[in-house]
Amino acid sequence: MKKLSLLLMAVLLFMGTQVKADEGMWIPMLLEKYNIEDMQKAGFKLSAADIYDINKACLKDAVVGLGREGSPFHHFCTGELISDKGLIVTNHHCGYGAIQNHSTLEHDYLKDGFWAMSQDEELVNEGITASFLIRMEDVTAQVLDSITDDTKEEVRQKMIARHIKKIQDATEKDSDYRASVKAFFNGNQYFLSVYEIYKDVRLVGAPPSAIGKFGGDTDNWMWPRHTGDFSMFRIYANKDNKPASYSKENVPMKPKQSFKISLKGVHEGDFTMVFGYPGTTTEYLTSDALDLMTKVDNPHKIKIRTKKLDLMRADMDASPMVRIQYSAKYAGVANSWKRWQGEITGLKRLNAIAKKKELEGKFEIWANSSDGLKKKYAGIVAEMGALYKELTPISLARDYAIEAGIRGSEAVTFAVKFKKLASLAKKDQDQLADLVAELKKSSEEFFKNYNNPTDKKLLAALLKMYSGNLTDEYLPKEIVNIREKYNGDFEAYAEKAMSKSVFTDENKLNNLLGNYKLSFGKRLTKDPIFVLANSIYFFYESEISPVYSKIITKTTKLQRTYMAGLMEMQKDRTFYPDANSTFRVHYGKVAGYKARNAVTYDYYTTLDGIIEKDNPEIFDYDVPQKLRDLYHAKDFGNYANAKGEMPVCFAATNHTTGGNSGSPVLNANGELIGLNFDRAWEGVMSDLMYDPEICRNVSLDIRYVLFLVDKFAGAGYLLDEMNIVQ
Ligand code: ARG
Ligand code: ASP
Repeated sequence: MKKLSLLLMAVLLFMGTQVKADEGMWIPMLLEKYNIEDMQKAGFKLSAADIYDINKACLKDAVVGLGREGSPFHHFCTGELISDKGLIVTNHHCGYGAIQNHSTLEHDYLKDGFWAMSQDEELVNEGITASFLIRMEDVTAQVLDSITDDTKEEVRQKMIARHIKKIQDATEKDSDYRASVKAFFNGNQYFLSVYEIYKDVRLVGAPPSAIGKFGGDTDNWMWPRHTGDFSMFRIYANKDNKPASYSKENVPMKPKQSFKISLKGVHEGDFTMVFGYPGTTTEYLTSDALDLMTKVDNPHKIKIRTKKLDLMRADMDASPMVRIQYSAKYAGVANSWKRWQGEITGLKRLNAIAKKKELEGKFEIWANSSDGLKKKYAGIVAEMGALYKELTPISLARDYAIEAGIRGSEAVTFAVKFKKLASLAKKDQDQLADLVAELKKSSEEFFKNYNNPTDKKLLAALLKMYSGNLTDEYLPKEIVNIREKYNGDFEAYAEKAMSKSVFTDENKLNNLLGNYKLSFGKRLTKDPIFVLANSIYFFYESEISPVYSKIITKTTKLQRTYMAGLMEMQKDRTFYPDANSTFRVHYGKVAGYKARNAVTYDYYTTLDGIIEKDNPEIFDYDVPQKLRDLYHAKDFGNYANAKGEMPVCFAATNHTTGGNSGSPVLNANGELIGLNFDRAWEGVMSDLMYDPEICRNVSLDIRYVLFLVDKFAGAGYLLDEMNIVQ
């Protein structure tokens, strides 16, 4: 009996310990320890220190995380230096907000593109930051100091927050650097990242959306792909090359390192590596978590967003003005909406839940194999299962509160911002002027992209869904009131509420804010949209969020324990931590894939494919005349491949996620060959479970970028700054 169980254990441990080729988002400072051999075997020609070295300039110094002033450590995209004058390239969809912000009906840079023909013409963007990683450090021991297995979870979280603050403060003291400590492996390890954050990032150029967003939301998350998804920015510094807010006196920043650009292109099987800031993945969830996500939460969120998108689309198609106002919002809503659908299909196809259950079964046997393990790990998977059951109704109520409530009607979202003003009392008089000034600014930004008829439809439709899909105990009071008062006619309500509200009419709101007095608070609190917003928000904050957080805190603890257990059980497996918006290295190879029965995809696309899709009748496929002309004249400069084709995109096996957009894609010599921007439909479940057979990242071929800058935009002067190698 004893013998048998030992044998069983050996088999169990062996199974599933193999790292799947190409899977993983690796920590740069640990490459030497865990990956470099593997990478070199796969073709990489350089050393780990060429990528990450804190004592000399290295490739990591040519990469920036793009963030926003208020949250610089949350990198929404990645960019890379391609000149020693601070020039960076990232995706068009990463620069989209900035491009849109500078656009008007007269200067529609989204539609027509934009190119600064000299540095004076570059456009200033408020609030965009570019962070350089200076160094990383494992600070687990300090963060978990004095914490034991018996420390209560709430106490543990407080202690951790305190320790983290101490480390960050000490690092930032007497330094220009910024520090951020984040949890890895579900809180089993902690790493400090030290950044230098630049704050003056100007728009240099972007192709028209007909190139930069070619294929639009139709082709988004798909392969084969033909999107010229890039834009260029320039980082400015003060005269000492240090970060500074925008000033006329600032000069182009001189980076420690910038990438060489290779014209050699890619071939099937070539080694590729991606550097960047992947945002969030959850690879180590249990089957019950996946169950809740794919069977309850996401289907409802998809349903809500389908409604939103249909309503926005109809109005965007009918008016060019509404199209400009809503295109960024639309793309934002559509992006996750589409990915969720792909995830559900991909996970089903992988049999992900069954696979997780199988691993959990093994885990449970292992956890019961000794008294020591039993004490730590036995039964935790089942415990988690029970928690996810408990979480289900509250999670759904939370989805509706957020998707159909707080982020439902835009006026509702906007009105929430006025909560503080409405509740200001006499003693707060001194805050009044600042608050009003801030809100005036928000109001200007809000109304610039606001179309009331569209929002009215959104309000009515989303309230109807909200109230139709939840029982009353999960509904904010005001929604129940409205339903009863209007007999379920949410359109009638929306019509009336919006015509009375100040949050739907710029003039009315300006009049109110123009000479705002404390006594106006009453008027705000009686505003029908404010009443609704307040009720949704209040309900969310008091009834949903606390219950949700309480259960999540318990799952967090169990998930951390499960993660630690998995790592203990599979000792020989090299684990990678889930993405958390810190710098990572991804490596793999250039590859097509078999998408489904009888359908196999090539690894690259060309301009021929753009011309094949060309259709002036379809917004997403309307190719600019100049690109057609260049194609027909075969005017490709020296950017064509050996066959004389103009390459556009390529697919590879790098395990990437949201946030990796704009990431440099490098060849075995560390030269820039492309820009990561997306993943292929059949493999978008890679955030939850990666499959080397079918998960592909999609990159823009750098030769297409150069061709567009040179031949299409006529901004060839930028190429002179770059270091282009044959
Ligand atoms: N799917 C890509 C990523 O997650 C690109 C999104 C932008 N493009 C779009 N058509 N919405 O960010
Ligand atoms: N498109 C994503 C991004 O913006 C990348 C991905 O999810 O693959 O970061």
